[in-house]
Amino acid sequence: MLDKKVSALLNDQINKELYSAYLYLDFSIYYEQQGLDGFANWYMVQAQEERDHAMLFLKYLQLCGENASLGAIAQPDKKLDALMAPLKFGLEHEQYVTSLINDIYAAAYEVKDFRTMQFLDWFVKEQLEEEKNAEDMIKKMELFGNDSKGLYSLDAEYAARVYTAPSLVL
Ligand code: FEO
Repeated sequence: MLDKKVSALLNDQINKELYSAYLYLDFSIYYEQQGLDGFANWYMVQAQEERDHAMLFLKYLQLCGENASLGAIAQPDKKLDALMAPLKFGLEHEQYVTSLINDIYAAAYEVKDFRTMQFLDWFVKEQLEEEKNAEDMIKKMELFGNDSKGLYSLDAEYAARVYTAPSLVL
């Protein structure tokens, strides 16, 4: 049996991760419309990863014998009016997700739920990578995005991203 607060936060995280998938799908659609297939691909893969994160939270809850309940997924409402916009929103969003993971971790720590802390360790590390990726994309866009050849190269780089299943297996 999980602590009620820990269980509720884990359940809520399913929704947050699915929202992340939705948000990145929105970014992918935006870049597709701009003719940047590589950026669109990068965020499509990212959306798949976020879906996987949601499934991991669901599976962990179920392994713990908890019931899960699904709420509505919010509509992405970020104003995408420049090629840089999704990248900046992406970093902000990942920083927010890091804070959510930390909140669950803190709640688990409070009740000495070492099992949940161990489960969350993977996400703590993953968030470091997520924030780093988002920061790198902003930096590269600042450096190369104003030049058409630079933008073309960046798009080609992002076109090469392929989906891989998460390394965490429950
Ligand atoms: Fe599920 Fe991008 O964090």
